[in-house]
Amino acid sequence: MKKIVLFICLLLAAIACKKSNVSVTPVTPPVVQPPVAGVEDILKTTATFPMGVAIDPSLLLNNKKYRDVILKEHNSLTTENAMKWQAIHPSENSYNYGGADYIVDFAVENKMRVHGHTLLWHAYNPTWLNNYKGDSTAFESLMKKHILEVVGHYKGKVTSWDVVNEAFDDRGSLRKGSTTEGSIWSTKLGNDYIARAFQYAAEADPKALLFYNDYGQEYSPSKLRAIISLITDLQKRKIPIHGVGLQFHININSDIAGIESALSQLAATGLKIHISELDVNFSNFQKNASITFSDANSMAQKKIYKQVMKSYRKLVPPAQQFGITCWNVGDADSWLRSAIQQNEWPLPFDDNYLRKPAYFGIIEGLKE
Ligand code: XIL
Repeated sequence: MKKIVLFICLLLAAIACKKSNVSVTPVTPPVVQPPVAGVEDILKTTATFPMGVAIDPSLLLNNKKYRDVILKEHNSLTTENAMKWQAIHPSENSYNYGGADYIVDFAVENKMRVHGHTLLWHAYNPTWLNNYKGDSTAFESLMKKHILEVVGHYKGKVTSWDVVNEAFDDRGSLRKGSTTEGSIWSTKLGNDYIARAFQYAAEADPKALLFYNDYGQEYSPSKLRAIISLITDLQKRKIPIHGVGLQFHININSDIAGIESALSQLAATGLKIHISELDVNFSNFQKNASITFSDANSMAQKKIYKQVMKSYRKLVPPAQQFGITCWNVGDADSWLRSAIQQNEWPLPFDDNYLRKPAYFGIIEGLKE
């Protein structure tokens, strides 16, 4: 009996299925609504200055979500590593433009601005350079050749350059010596290498905007003072410098007063002001295994992102607003995860390149 009931059930189910197959009308594919102008806020149209991001050529090539966010939200690109010596000048007599060209071509094709990072830094240098033996004339010629070659290669395509990156330590002294924190450039060439680097860059591309870039202006008054006196000295000597970058690798507890003081004092130099490497971490570079992406942290992060936008708009005159650049696109590709060897969530987009509360903090800060 049980078997007969089961058989009838199966038969009825089969008939129902068949019937429904016949009667089902074809399903129309869901329509993806294009964003309606003025309804959906995105970074680049909400801001009145360029909104940039530091990017990596292989992620740009291989990761569609990453590429889509960049295309949709940004109008300025910084090469995260692709223009650093180690990447672009791997041996004394060879240049590798592969990664950087890929980013620059993508930017040109999509009408985005490119900010070149960086011509001189104490880190991310190739071993051949770190081990280079030669007197100051030989080093001068290395530096000059590199700048003329790289800036020349991108003449007319790269709008602006970080000519010198992180020349000062947190005490405001010029980095010197052969430790990892020291700089080969001042050690080999003396303190005035910075001025000459700017002159070589201007020689290679007279139209390029030339920046000094550093971190910590917001928490180290001595470093801020050192940077301002460098700028003032270069300006007095008519050395071509057009802008200053404040990296702003800040955290959810960063002091807004320090941020505002750095912005307004640097704006007073008259240079263009670039918030050049913005991210807002939770750990303040401390080892902290228990750190999580909690609601409280996320809300604190949103608040800081919003405040940075408001402070920039309030304290930097529009003609000096060069733009705001985040250091990486989404949390998954943040440099901090490998730099501090722990989880961090410092960016406006999450691991899947979806908008986080931090993103909406930026939008609010750009609008209010
Ligand atoms: C970082 C990159 O994001 C990392 O991928 C790389 O391993 C080291 O450099 N200040 C700077 C940037 O000026 O060039 C640094 O970029 C982050 C800190």
